[in-house]
Amino acid sequence: MATERTLSIIKPDATKRNLTGKINAKFEEAGLRIVAQKRIKLSPEQAGKFYEVHKERPFYGELVEFMASEPVVVQVLEGENAIARNRDVMGATNPADAAEGTIRKEFALSVGENSVHGSDAPETAAQEIAFFFSGLELVG
Ligand code: PPS
Repeated sequence: MATERTLSIIKPDATKRNLTGKINAKFEEAGLRIVAQKRIKLSPEQAGKFYEVHKERPFYGELVEFMASEPVVVQVLEGENAIARNRDVMGATNPADAAEGTIRKEFALSVGENSVHGSDAPETAAQEIAFFFSGLELVG
């Protein structure tokens, strides 16, 4: 099995409720290693750029406003099949559909305020990691 890296964001609804440690424990229990992490506040422009792929969707404005509303924790998670493994531990986008034991089932408030983001494929993981982290911040 391949060791991968994926980009994770702990979203404003979760940082605001002081859930960073509890969410990180879920990643670690699932066998994911946090190899880089920082707490930042996105500008609306930065959030808009990150979510550009959703530009035409009706919730885009709301999503951008939310992601720029409070600090977020951006992180790189590493492990075997880290991209799929992270999406498993995150649970479904809508917490109403999320499986027991997942982060979104336990902590998310709604489909928008859903506590975490995770890359969905190797290409997007590489792009999203490079969006937030320089090579110097990524130790082996
Ligand atoms: S997925 O998994 O990408 O197919 O999910 P999708 O439904 O396409 O949603 C993409 C991201 O948009 C967020 N979202 C919303 N934000 C605000 N309001 C509404 N109604 C809404 N619907 C979806 C959702 O949380 C996804 O965020 P990320 O960070 O990509 O997980």
